[in-house]
Amino acid sequence: MRRKMAAGNWKMNGLRADLAEITALASATSTTACDVMICPPAPLIPAMLALEAGIMVGGQDCHAEQSGAHTGDVSATLLKDIGASAVIVGHSERRADHAETDAEVRAKAEAATSAGLIAIVCIGETEAERDAGDTLKVVETQLTGSLPDGTTAANTVVAYEPVWAIGTGKTAQSSDIVEVHAAMRALLRARFGAEVADGIRLLYGGSVKPGNAEEIFSLPDVDGGLVGGASLKAADFSAIVAAASR
Ligand code: PGA
Repeated sequence: MRRKMAAGNWKMNGLRADLAEITALASATSTTACDVMICPPAPLIPAMLALEAGIMVGGQDCHAEQSGAHTGDVSATLLKDIGASAVIVGHSERRADHAETDAEVRAKAEAATSAGLIAIVCIGETEAERDAGDTLKVVETQLTGSLPDGTTAANTVVAYEPVWAIGTGKTAQSSDIVEVHAAMRALLRARFGAEVADGIRLLYGGSVKPGNAEEIFSLPDVDGGLVGGASLKAADFSAIVAAASR
């Protein structure tokens, strides 16, 4: 009942010339049974949308306020105004590089959903936290702290991204992914009720590649992926989209 999603996060990569990848992706993924999204650096969003490639386009971050004196920041309202469908909030690189707390992530998610965007809320443990056996505790704290009370299946997607798996070529074991996703589903049910919780898509992220996507996306409670490096090339990402469409 949950439609799978393959979301690409270009991070601080991509120039106008790389929009050719979107054209290639569109032709390689013209009939898909999943939602396909690319989150490029914000200045590329209008040009990506202008391609009318049939691919959802999202931002990588937004400010918690809708406007104001915040030099360099982008509001969810503007992202919505230029045609974005979603915005990633709380990515571990934002949490690490900009010291974003769960409370800030939650405020950003609130700004996103009130602007009419889907908030893709990211959580995940560091390697030290996993080694200490704290994975489920960290996931619970981040999930509880980062999701607003107004979370619905329509306005929110959660991405579980173990920090140690991002950009490293290491993926979590299938059994670990299943354990964390089941724990997230249970936490969502306890807070939002089964009807809302069972509709919320839970993505896995961290070194998703064409070679492992099918196995990961077939796991229970895994509703697709948030993909960094492998979203930059249409050949790789279209294979991941195909895996999410099965
Ligand atoms: P990766 O990044 O696929 O390059 O590991 C995932 C992410 O950060 O969303």
